[in-house]
Amino acid sequence: MTGNFEFFNPTRIYFGENSISYLENELKKYGENVMLTYGGGSIKRNGIYDKVIEILKSAGKNIVEDPGVMPNPTVEKLTEGSAAARENNVDLILAVGGGSVCDYAKAVSISAYCDEDPWERYFVRMDDVTCKIIPVGCVLTMVGTGSEMNGGSVITNYEQKLKIGRDFDENVFPKFSVLDPVYTYSIPEYQMKAGIFDIMSHIIEQYFSGDDDNTSDYISEGLLRSLIHSSRIAVKNPTDYEARSNIMWTASLALNTLVAKGKTADWMVHMIGQSIGAFTDATHGMTLSAVSMAYYRMICPHGLEKFKRYAVNVWDVDPSGKTDEEIAFEGLDSMEAYMNEIGLVMRLKELGVTEDMFDGIADGSFIMDGGYKTLTHEEIVEVLRKSM
Ligand code: NZQ
Ligand code: ZN
Repeated sequence: MTGNFEFFNPTRIYFGENSISYLENELKKYGENVMLTYGGGSIKRNGIYDKVIEILKSAGKNIVEDPGVMPNPTVEKLTEGSAAARENNVDLILAVGGGSVCDYAKAVSISAYCDEDPWERYFVRMDDVTCKIIPVGCVLTMVGTGSEMNGGSVITNYEQKLKIGRDFDENVFPKFSVLDPVYTYSIPEYQMKAGIFDIMSHIIEQYFSGDDDNTSDYISEGLLRSLIHSSRIAVKNPTDYEARSNIMWTASLALNTLVAKGKTADWMVHMIGQSIGAFTDATHGMTLSAVSMAYYRMICPHGLEKFKRYAVNVWDVDPSGKTDEEIAFEGLDSMEAYMNEIGLVMRLKELGVTEDMFDGIADGSFIMDGGYKTLTHEEIVEVLRKSM
């Protein structure tokens, strides 16, 4: 390990089939007013809503329903939910859904009692939380973001064309998360695939940074191998429990801060992807897949040793008789072949991006300096152009 660090993850995880049965006990820890936060209605179609309502009722809770959280939750929805949480004196926000619902619940938890505009305070100025925080619990139904076990929250302001994510401290992490792989069987194919690439991107964006001998990078290689293996099974058979459960836990481990310990991280693909999201409302994971190959091929020569290691340890590239460059780029070719095999979006035009958006997307991409090359505005535009 290179850097010193502190590690603490306060989220209690209930993992496995029927783990919803632990919800009742958890609910005893909180007051009677529970805000049930969910998305556009998938939980009503797959039966999760009925199950959660039954448990809330038998626990004697007053249920404040907060439906309609959209993928890429907006500031307007945040304002509405924060007012509802405050007016109903909510004791617990129970987020039942994917990353969008979890992210939004966390944002509401710190905004309900915030005495200024939460968008300006938390997402533009990145100030700390000083007000009362409402506890959040999650029942996860969509896998990818890791939001169920971290302090991250991503909110979109379409008026300002900005999608901003940030990490909050341990007080904002969910207090508990219920992770039942069976709940993920009903995720639409497109969303499942987007989630798979979101996980991959989280891991490699932390991996492709620094050149120290770091345990975190060895963990990342193992997570990637598990993800590649299980995702190939899950796309063929979405109800393969073993594969879905491996993917679900890999997603949490990928972004619960574990694999970032003692090292730096890149995060440039996420910065570009989020900016694309602010312009197009495209599905998060697909904004990442569409730009990844152009980005990694651009930075590969600047981090050759690590890209070579990635090729050999993750993609089983045979290094014999090849130059470092040949090995590194062969690894990226293998990654691209895998992405095509899984069926990811590989072209930005499929997400509604047009050339006249390039400058705006580049302007909205926060430039990070943890990767092997710090991109200029023009280089971001070049990545976008090559990704069309
Ligand atoms: O809204 P409903 O009807 O529930 O449908 C959702 C939504 O349309 C559907 N869905 C979820 N679970 C389902 C299901 N449909 C059927 N069966 C189920 N079991 O899937 C769609 C997408 O859901 P969403 O929550 O938007 O997906 P995801 O989990 O990928 O979350 C994306 C959001 O998380 C942010 C992204 O930027 C984006 O805003 N991120 C959050 C991060 C974090 N907190 O650390 C990090 C990530 O990098 C990411 O940026
Ligand atoms: Zn992501």
